[in-house]
Amino acid sequence: MTQSNETTRRWLRRAGSARLEFGADYNPDQWPREFWDDDVRAMREAGVTVVSLAIFSWARLEPREGAYDFAWLDEVMDLLHAGGITVDLATATASPPPWLTRKHPEILPVTRTGEVLSPGARQHWRPTSPIFREHALRLVRELATRYAEHPALVAWHVNNELGCHNIYDYSDDAAAAFRVWLRNRYHDVEALNHAWGTAFWSQRYDDFEEVLPPRLAASHPNPTQQLDFKRFSSDALKEHLRAERDLLRSITPEVPVTTNFMVMGETKGMNYADWAAEVDFVSNDHYVLPGPQARDELSFSANLTGNLAGGRPWFLMEHSTSAVNWQPVNVAKKPGELERDSLTHVAHGADAVCYFQWRQSKAGAEKYHSAMLPHAGTDSDLFRAVVRFGQRLRELAPVAGSRRRRAEVGIVFDWESWWVAEHDSHPTDRLRYRQETLDWYTALLDAGVRADVLPVTGPLEEYRVLIAPILHVLPARLAVRLRDWVAAGGHLVTTYFSGIVDENDHVWLGGYPGPLRDVLGIRIEEFGPLLDHESVELDNGTTGTLWTDRIDVTSDDVEVLARYKTGEQAERAAVTRRRAGAGSAAYVSTRLGPEGLGPLLPALLGPAGVRGELPPELAGRVELAIRGDHWFLINRTDGPVDLGALPDGGILEPRGVAILHRP
Ligand code: GAL
Repeated sequence: MTQSNETTRRWLRRAGSARLEFGADYNPDQWPREFWDDDVRAMREAGVTVVSLAIFSWARLEPREGAYDFAWLDEVMDLLHAGGITVDLATATASPPPWLTRKHPEILPVTRTGEVLSPGARQHWRPTSPIFREHALRLVRELATRYAEHPALVAWHVNNELGCHNIYDYSDDAAAAFRVWLRNRYHDVEALNHAWGTAFWSQRYDDFEEVLPPRLAASHPNPTQQLDFKRFSSDALKEHLRAERDLLRSITPEVPVTTNFMVMGETKGMNYADWAAEVDFVSNDHYVLPGPQARDELSFSANLTGNLAGGRPWFLMEHSTSAVNWQPVNVAKKPGELERDSLTHVAHGADAVCYFQWRQSKAGAEKYHSAMLPHAGTDSDLFRAVVRFGQRLRELAPVAGSRRRRAEVGIVFDWESWWVAEHDSHPTDRLRYRQETLDWYTALLDAGVRADVLPVTGPLEEYRVLIAPILHVLPARLAVRLRDWVAAGGHLVTTYFSGIVDENDHVWLGGYPGPLRDVLGIRIEEFGPLLDHESVELDNGTTGTLWTDRIDVTSDDVEVLARYKTGEQAERAAVTRRRAGAGSAAYVSTRLGPEGLGPLLPALLGPAGVRGELPPELAGRVELAIRGDHWFLINRTDGPVDLGALPDGGILEPRGVAILHRP
């Protein structure tokens, strides 16, 4: 079993009969006491089962150093319990109180350019500060001891969105911790010199003590230093998670511990493939990012989260009922979107549907962010929609606990390739790793083919087809694994800028794409990135942008699926495929977007015998996701879709989700 399958071992303490949990972040300390009873009453009306409590309450819980005030939290915990609502209790360490930063300004993070971040917002702490750690753990110990036996407590919520604002800290604390991390990785400084290629630009180190984080420099900082700093920064926050978790486990071993990940959009600093095994169950936050692929991006994130959880249920800790407050323009959700967005997460394995937040704030930076209970109060369309949805979730209780059904196609997602492919001093700074992976996902959805988005550490061999877009960092071991899998019958598809460097960000020599040359039967001598206004025509009628490769076909058994018609590479192969062993290996050398990838799919999936599970007339219009014996049919369009081709199909409302039982 792979590591990811070992994760997500425990669910909420005292979870009774199976149900889908429903709730939100609850911030009663931001409201006068007289609101609390109304809150619990309205939560009951909506069918709320769980709230995340005290996430930003440090200053209220410890108003002065060592002086704790738990009376209000005791009362809230008791009120919630009396109302039948369970609590995912935060450790409250996300936002340090003013007394702490006044006394210890040396816990404040420092940017790459040397500016110190001031308190006054949130998450203004250095992940590696021993002083912060000490104060945070003291609070965690107090909370865990006080609420260990509280009947409302079902889970611990470590900190909040670790790394949302403080993933990269370049302070002296970070520098010291980075050197410790490097000593552990390399043991002797010559190994570091080799890995970082420090013969270049006179960067050789004689002692670990000379090493710094990649702070603002005169030109491009050493690329492997940048990569290691990213690894280190992800590890530093993971260490904080582990420190709080271990303390919690020592006091309440029976209470599961989680923390909310941010598998969404361009949030990329935390290597969640590496974090997932650290929590008892995986939790995620997701907010819709406007744009033509907004819905698909939500599905992609939910799908990847489900695979980080090893296919087991996970907890949607935050999303929004309607608009957020942090985009340039914050658009309200259209009718149907509240349910569709939430149920798309459920379709990909969420057993809890929670929002930020319960009651919309009256003051503070998030007062225009939607909530379950809006400014307008319970007499509002939004609250009525929330109540209706709560009812629907109760009816979906039979879904709870079921596992995602694995797809035949896997899209490989690799945090390190994401980091490195977008480094500076590359052939182009326009390349976007996540966009390319999302484009493949959209193309598969358009074709009605189910795919799993899975971390590169996942069970790759279980798939018939693996699509590995921009698999830029290719350690030798992974290359061997992929080649062996192809020889045994796997069908690999990869793209431009894949297989270029090893784990030290050193180029594989002899022509690109290094260790995949043989299996692909191609060799590339030079990259051909395109300028913004340039595009190239392919002879299958599609158009490439961003990138081209000067491909030489080196093996007679390579089939050219498309050639360049225009541009520098005219006449050369643009898309190739080679039968290799019992499988095949294909290469796409330009950015085609979902419209251009679609026409290639029959040739790429056909030989693997993969086809859509939906009737052809539904392909593209609905997304299919399967959990246990439930089929989720998610309307991707703004119009109704006739599901008549399916038994019990009926009409799927615009932006609706139908859930069919298929024992
Ligand atoms: C998350 C955060 C919440 C809230 C929300 C708003 O990043 O965890 O506290 O700020 O975003 O969308």
